[in-house]
Amino acid sequence: MGKLVVANNLTLTYENNPVIKSSNFTINSGDFVFLTGVSGSGKTTIIKSLYGELKPHSGNLRIGEFNLFNISKSKLSTLRKHLGIVFQDFKLIPEWNILKNVMLPLLIAGVNKNEAEQRAMEYLSRVKLSHKADKFPAELSGGEQQRAAIARATIHNPVMILADEPISGLDEYSASLVMDLFIKANQKGITIVIASHSIPTEFSINFRQLHIEKGKIYELA
Ligand SMILES: Nc1ncnc2c1ncn2[C@@H]1O[C@H](COP(=O)(O)OP(=O)(O)O)[C@@H](O)[C@H]1O
Ligand SMILES: [Mg+2]
Repeated sequence: MGKLVVANNLTLTYENNPVIKSSNFTINSGDFVFLTGVSGSGKTTIIKSLYGELKPHSGNLRIGEFNLFNISKSKLSTLRKHLGIVFQDFKLIPEWNILKNVMLPLLIAGVNKNEAEQRAMEYLSRVKLSHKADKFPAELSGGEQQRAAIARATIHNPVMILADEPISGLDEYSASLVMDLFIKANQKGITIVIASHSIPTEFSINFRQLHIEKGKIYELA
């Protein structure tokens, strides 16, 4: 499989405070990657760099044909159309019902409303939320909001899903639905990157672990 993400001597900083220091890693197409490290180690920082929210301070960061160091706004929005992002705080749109929230990536991609609605209903049923389609985010529990966020992140068949602590704070039922969705997406060839302080026990599929420690990224077997 080809290399999808290549980081060379990557340094990520906030106002000159380095969080990731001259690190190297690659992610291949189709990989299932856990990005691990203690709280404050830089997991969210790396996820942010991968969707272009945080520009590299120095070094190289490439995703496919895109160079994140000097990417233009229009190329960044093209890149993001190929990503599915699951934020630590869900970022569902509060004024929209769950159905419309899940439809969003399809609407951005120009899919017509009827088809988008049908597909969103199908994805809501996969995360066992069909009965909440017309509810608003504030009317759902945290686990339900996370499941809706994951339906939204996968509905447009992205090349890569970036998920920041997607199961922390979820009950067992929601967590297993969520992990199942990631596994199914990966089986379709979607590259998965999950930031998580630990790897779920009884995790049965092949995965890689990139571990952050003291600003450096190590591959753990
Ligand atoms: N916007 C920011 N401005 C300044 N420092 C930040 C910002 N976001 C994160 N940091 C710092 O960067 C480090 C890594 O944070 P983060 O990537 O959120 O860690 P993790 O997700 O692994 O818990 C922490 O020391 C944190 O305080
Ligand atoms: Mg974090």
